[in-house]
Amino acid sequence: MANCFRPQVLASFAVMALLSAAAMAVPAHGQMQAPMQNQTQGAAAHPLPWAYAVFDPVPPAPIPDDPTLQHISGSDQGFTMKQLRDTGNPADWFPGDHPPMPTIVAHRRSPGMNPWIGSCGLCHYPNGRGRPENAGVAGLPVGYIMEQLADFKNGARKTADPGKKNTAVMTGNATGITDEEAMAAAQYFASIKMPQWIKVVETETVPKVRNSGGFFVPVEGSEMEPIGNRILEMPVDPEATETYRNPRSGWIAYVPMGSVKKGEELVLRGGGGKTVACAACHGQDLKGNGNFPPLAGRSPSYFARQLYDIQHYTRNGPGTQLMRPVVQNLNEDDILAITAYLASLQP
Ligand code: HEC
Ligand code: HEC
Repeated sequence: MANCFRPQVLASFAVMALLSAAAMAVPAHGQMQAPMQNQTQGAAAHPLPWAYAVFDPVPPAPIPDDPTLQHISGSDQGFTMKQLRDTGNPADWFPGDHPPMPTIVAHRRSPGMNPWIGSCGLCHYPNGRGRPENAGVAGLPVGYIMEQLADFKNGARKTADPGKKNTAVMTGNATGITDEEAMAAAQYFASIKMPQWIKVVETETVPKVRNSGGFFVPVEGSEMEPIGNRILEMPVDPEATETYRNPRSGWIAYVPMGSVKKGEELVLRGGGGKTVACAACHGQDLKGNGNFPPLAGRSPSYFARQLYDIQHYTRNGPGTQLMRPVVQNLNEDDILAITAYLASLQP
């Protein structure tokens, strides 16, 4: 598993040619043979606030001990509010939407020891679709997931904004689980297809929002404001997401006018040498290729963090070395445009 990408890449002359050309075009620290370790390369104090969505934690409100079972449309399950807040055994509204969950996905492993190891389904949802503040893991290749878990564990994958605390929780998970549990979770999430789950809308104005524990929801009232230079990813139905954790209730990504077209140029053609056309590695339709992860139809906030993290060497595992020439010259507007375009594609 040391570098599961190498054999495929060596097999592809097109990719090799592309890489050597790109490597010559970038300064020494961008070359594949000399990745810089432990260097953040001038990361801003709070980069891309719309993507990292750092917030000050507030103590959770007390949950009323009410035996009433809550229901949501389309589900024959019922849960009390207390069960819906149970972080060790996340509610599974739609057991028919996914194969049986491995124990590590469904339950916290050792509450007495580390309260956060396990129940991957809490953050990534039982169906793996995830949310902007974590990641969609459904439909990722098994080998890729295993490599990411290893990178989190050995410190090669961190967030550029340490204020984003749930990444540390993710690291705790990757560090605390056994190899067997990692494989069970990887095979499970890889087996689930990611549906179109995010709708991209170009707009000039957006609702005023507040940060709800790492993602944004509209504030009361109907006040609007200019979108400015950001993507605003929010639940289509804030109550379904916030209160009921409905894992079928999707997301809407508001993006500035013209950003999808600008992103398309960068993704498909490399933007006149600014970056490298993504299909060479991520597959013709950007739906993934072997252990190269899929890019189509995934969270723009999550992807923007990854491009920034890779660019600033906080995400620096073996696989990311192939991404060095890609991210080298991207500025924040490019990252916005690329992730807007990718999110608009059918996964
Ligand atoms: C407390 C919430 C939380 C739990 C529980 C959790 N994760 Fe994560 N996971 C995250 C966050 C947050 C990220 C993205 C980190 C970032 O953007 O910096 C992530 C990212 C990932 C990724 C990377 C996805 C990609 O596209 O590269 C994988 C794989 C993953 N998690 C698997 C798991 C598995 C397996 C478990 C259970 C053992 C788990 N996670 C439990 C929060 C969580
Ligand atoms: C030379 C091959 C190559 C090219 C070209 C390439 N990528 Fe990648 N990309 C990779 C590899 C390998 C990974 C996995 C990195 C890892 O293991 O951490 C990756 C990972 C990513 C990730 C993180 C995925 C996740 O789930 O966290 C994003 C986002 C990404 N690439 C975007 C792009 C975009 C956008 C382009 C084009 C502008 C592009 N890549 C072009 C090889 C490539």
